[in-house]
Order: sequence, then structure tokens, then C-alpha cells
Amino acid sequence: MPIEQDPSLAFRCLAHDLNNVFTTINEAADLLAGDARWSSIAAALHRSVDRGKRLVDGFCETAGGATSLNELLDSAIDATRDFLDLVHGPRIEFHRDVDAGVMMRGIPVLWERVFVNLFLNAAEMMTSRGTIEIAATREADRSLIRVSDDGPGIAPELLPRIFDHEVSSKGKRRGLGLHIVRTIVERNGGQVTAGRAQAGGAEFSIVLPA
Ligand SMILES: Nc1ncnc2c1ncn2[C@@H]1O[C@H](COP(=O)(O)OP(=O)(O)O)[C@@H](O)[C@H]1O
Ligand SMILES: [Mg+2]
Repeated sequence: MPIEQDPSLAFRCLAHDLNNVFTTINEAADLLAGDARWSSIAAALHRSVDRGKRLVDGFCETAGGATSLNELLDSAIDATRDFLDLVHGPRIEFHRDVDAGVMMRGIPVLWERVFVNLFLNAAEMMTSRGTIEIAATREADRSLIRVSDDGPGIAPELLPRIFDHEVSSKGKRRGLGLHIVRTIVERNGGQVTAGRAQAGGAEFSIVLPA
């Protein structure tokens, strides 16, 4: 079957080619790591490559056990910080109030994507600085996770359709992030909603079966 008609072969080809890209970036990062001026950028590049490999692997993985939300947030916050540092984005402070017992079933790297998408969306609405708060509690039969920010909040006209593909205030070829978020949450038996945070910014709530 030709590649364009066989998504799994096309994906394996893409994964193969991306590995070459990752190797090139890793080699360049190794060179930079030898110079103290660039060592923190080298570390960020190495972390990004590791993340890229996990994303590619995550496509082929099937869900195994459960991962603690705190561990997933560590990776997602690192990824967000690396990205914002390199693009000279706003300075974001993260506040966490997360029950240690909140565990996430499913593929860890996909959960990382959920949180990175939410964090970068919040950051994209901030000018020079802002705060993102993550609160999570575990109840008898479900876990509740809230991600809120102190940005301008979601435009009311977007709110009813915000998780739909191609709904965006940022122009063409945008509007996929929250669609990905909803798809991953629902694939794990959960629900996600959007609204206004107490601080006036946006708030996203995820409810997951325990
Ligand atoms: N934290 C947030 N604060 C305000 N608006 C938001 C926030 N997150 C998402 N949005 C709004 O939802 C839209 C859709 O988000 P998304 O699906 O990630 O697509 P994109 O970021 O590419 O526009 C954004 O364009 C933005 O208008
Ligand atoms: Mg987005």
C-alpha cells in the first residue's frame, strides 16, 4: 500500500525521520554544553529532544499504569518554562495546590500535552508576567483538576465553542490546542470545561473518574 494510504506506515516513516532531526539537535546541544555561556540552553535543547522522543513514542504506546499528577506537572512546567525562556515570552509563576494522591491513568506524555497546551494558552494571553494556578483534589469516585490564570480571561463570544477545532482568536491555522486537550481528556473518560476564574482570568476544569 502506498505510504499516503497507510497512516501507520506514514507515521513510522515520520518517526524515523524525526529521529534524525533529534540526533542532529542533540549533537549540536552536546557541542554547546561544553561552553559555560550556552550550557543552560544546551540543557533546554536536550530536554526538548527528550520530550519530542516521548511524544513520538506516546503515539505508539498503549496506556499502562497511572502516573502521579505532580510528576506530570513537573515535566509540563519544565517544558513550558523552556519554551517561554527561548522565545522571550512572559515570566510565569506557577502555584500548585495538588493532593499527592491524584493519579492519572493513560499515556503520560499525552497528559503532559494537555497541561502544556493549557499553560501556553495562558502565557500567550499575558504581556510581561502572570500567574498560573493548578489545584487538584481527589474525592471518593473522581479527581478534580483546575487550571486558572490571571490573564484577561476567555472572550465571551468564543466560550461556547472554545474546544472546537479551528476556534481561535489568533488567526488562521490555529485553534487546535484545546481540541487536543478535550480529545485526550475524553479518551480517558473525563470531561473538561472552560469558564472564568475568581481572579478574573480563564479557568479550565477537568473531572476524571478515580
Ligand atoms: N487561558 C486563556 N485565556 C484567555 N483565552 C484563552 C485561554 N486559553 C485559550 N483561550 C482562547 O481560546 C482560543 C483557542 O485556543 P486553542 O484551541 O489552544 O487555539 P490557539 O491557541 O491556537 O488559538 C484561543 O485563541 C484564545 O482566544
Ligand atoms: Mg493554543
